[in-house]
Amino acid sequence: MKTNQVTMEKLVNLCKSRGIIFPGSEIYGGMGNTWDYGPIGVEVKNNIKRAWWKRFVQQSDNSFGVDAAILMNSRVWDASGHTASFTDPKMDCKECKSRHRADNLIENYSKGAVNPDTMSNEEMESYIKEHKINCPICGKHNWTPIRLFNMMFETSRGVTEENQNKIYLRPETAQGEFVNFLNVQRTTRAKVPFGIAQIGKAFRNEITPGNFIFRTIEFEQMEHQWFCKEGTDTAFYEDFKKKAWDFLVDLGFNPEHLRYKDHDKLAHYAKNACDIQYLFPIGWSELNGIHNRTDYDLSRHQEYSGKNMQYVDPITNEKYVPYVIEYSIGADRLMLAVLSEAYEEETLENGETRVVMHFHPSIAAYKVAVLPLQKNLGEKAKEIYKKLSSEFMCTYDEAGSIGKRYRRQDEIGTPMCVTIDFDTLENNTVTIRDRDTMEQIRLSVDELVDYVAKKIRF
Ligand code: GAP
Repeated sequence: MKTNQVTMEKLVNLCKSRGIIFPGSEIYGGMGNTWDYGPIGVEVKNNIKRAWWKRFVQQSDNSFGVDAAILMNSRVWDASGHTASFTDPKMDCKECKSRHRADNLIENYSKGAVNPDTMSNEEMESYIKEHKINCPICGKHNWTPIRLFNMMFETSRGVTEENQNKIYLRPETAQGEFVNFLNVQRTTRAKVPFGIAQIGKAFRNEITPGNFIFRTIEFEQMEHQWFCKEGTDTAFYEDFKKKAWDFLVDLGFNPEHLRYKDHDKLAHYAKNACDIQYLFPIGWSELNGIHNRTDYDLSRHQEYSGKNMQYVDPITNEKYVPYVIEYSIGADRLMLAVLSEAYEEETLENGETRVVMHFHPSIAAYKVAVLPLQKNLGEKAKEIYKKLSSEFMCTYDEAGSIGKRYRRQDEIGTPMCVTIDFDTLENNTVTIRDRDTMEQIRLSVDELVDYVAKKIRF
């Protein structure tokens, strides 16, 4: 099974060597928990975002997109509850001065058997003491009590000291959707139920080691808020659980690598909450969340902004604050899951091993690689490359043996390789090699664009 072969180390190495993802600020020694997407990675991630947008905005009746500002009025975060309680329970090691999340210490120690989400801070402290959980850095057991740290990054606006005004980098994109509820409803004349979606950066001052792009301090979220009437919320919650699952399976995920996990402890405003977990190389972990947030968000913004957030039913004239079903997934976390799921080390008939990334063709960075068998076929090959690249992201490679060139494309997941040979000059046909089966067929150059378009549809 693929997940047995793939380790985080192998993924990190492949990503670095193939231009998928590099460590952030690398020439300065890096900066913990930040990563830069390279030429292949940026394409794959953009394709993931496009696929999500297509499914949850373009093909979703009554859903609309927004792109809200990252910096928002600080009152937004008072209303959402983030200034008061977006905290992590941290403990410092008195010996080596490193800082750790108490819940992670317990989770790692118990290998997932104990769920710290259901524990109070006092219970976590006692568990760590009773089980003598040591500092993962220095191995000593000498902890401070748990202290709560807010995870929002603070900054300030204004040029002079006196003018300073504390603001935050948003820790989630969701609030940009809630504060635009009235604007979107008014300008689209949407009737409840309807949805607002957004893709954008979020920032959290996470201190836990990141596990590559699983947990970073800067990441992108893809969030969809579905506004509905109380009473219809449970059915829509179930509906979104299924939609979120189907999206992953349609992207090529093996359903055996996915599972639903209900939250053991619900936030005080939530009626239901569940994650879809994926079998990452680090084990089963949250990939996305689906939450029934009741009318909490809009009611809080009504209270803090003084604006009436009620919806007026155009038929019955009934006024009410809608309930919200939230579906939230990290683009980078999904990228990691896509990379893990796609990775395979395949033993070939001749005994050699090839690393191949089985991306869904719509997600692959390049749809086609154009490979002339010999350099003197370059002119015809470039003509074909030009034709294809006006429609799709393509790459051109004439360096090295054809076998080596195929391997390079397999490692970045290019679904089709087009080879140009001397017959191409004679009869205007090319060979297309399929990444997964390695089978080759011969096709007329005139049929190429339609052939590729059909293969990459999502
Ligand atoms: N608006 C709800 C919300 O933000 P969340 O469970 O905190 O909920 C939603 O985050 C998703 O965002 C997660 O399921 C995960 O995919 C992603 N995510 C959260 N924190 C992240 C981090 N530090 N790095 C990368 N992705 C993260």
